[in-house]
Amino acid sequence: MYRVGIITASDKGSRGERVDESGAKIKEIVAEFGYEVKFYKVLPDDKEVLAEEMKTLCDNNEVDLILTTGGTGFSKRDNTPEATLSIAEKLVPGISEAIRAYSMQFTKKAMLSRAVSVIRKSTLIINMPGSPKAVKECMECLMPALEHGLDILT
Ligand code: MTE
Repeated sequence: MYRVGIITASDKGSRGERVDESGAKIKEIVAEFGYEVKFYKVLPDDKEVLAEEMKTLCDNNEVDLILTTGGTGFSKRDNTPEATLSIAEKLVPGISEAIRAYSMQFTKKAMLSRAVSVIRKSTLIINMPGSPKAVKECMECLMPALEHGLDILT
C-alpha cells in the first residue's frame, strides 16, 4: 500500500475562505486505488512554504507520492511548479506531458497548466491543476501507470 501526501496550494483555502474540493477529490480517487493518505494540508501559494513542506515529506520518507493541486497556471501567485522544481533531484517530464496531452480532449486550456513531475529521494511529486474536474481527468490518465513507477522507486 503506497503512502500519499496531498498538498492543496490555495491562498483562499489556506485562510479558510474556500472549501478544498480538489483535495477531497484526490483523497477519494487514491482511496479507490487502495493508497493510504498519510498527509494532507492546504497551504498558501508561497514558493518557499510549498517547497519546505514537500522537502520535509521527502527527506523524512513520510510518503511515497505527493500529489499537489493548484497553482500551476499563469497568475502571479501560481508558484507550485517553481516550488517543486526547487527541491527536485530528478525530472519526470513524461508524466506531466502525458497528463497534458490526455487533458486536451476535455479542454484546450489544458496546455496552460505548467505542472511538473519530479523525484526527490524515494518520493515522486506530481502537480495537478486546481479544480476537482481537472484532478479527476488528470488522475484518470495518471493512475494506471503509477504503480509500476512507484514499485521501482520505493
Ligand atoms: N486540465 C484538465 N484535465 N482539466 C481542466 O479543466 N484546466 C486548465 C489547465 N488544465 C484544466 C486542466 C486551466 S483552465 C488552467 S488555467 C490550468 O490548468 C492551470 O490551473 P491552476 O492554475 O488551477 O493550476
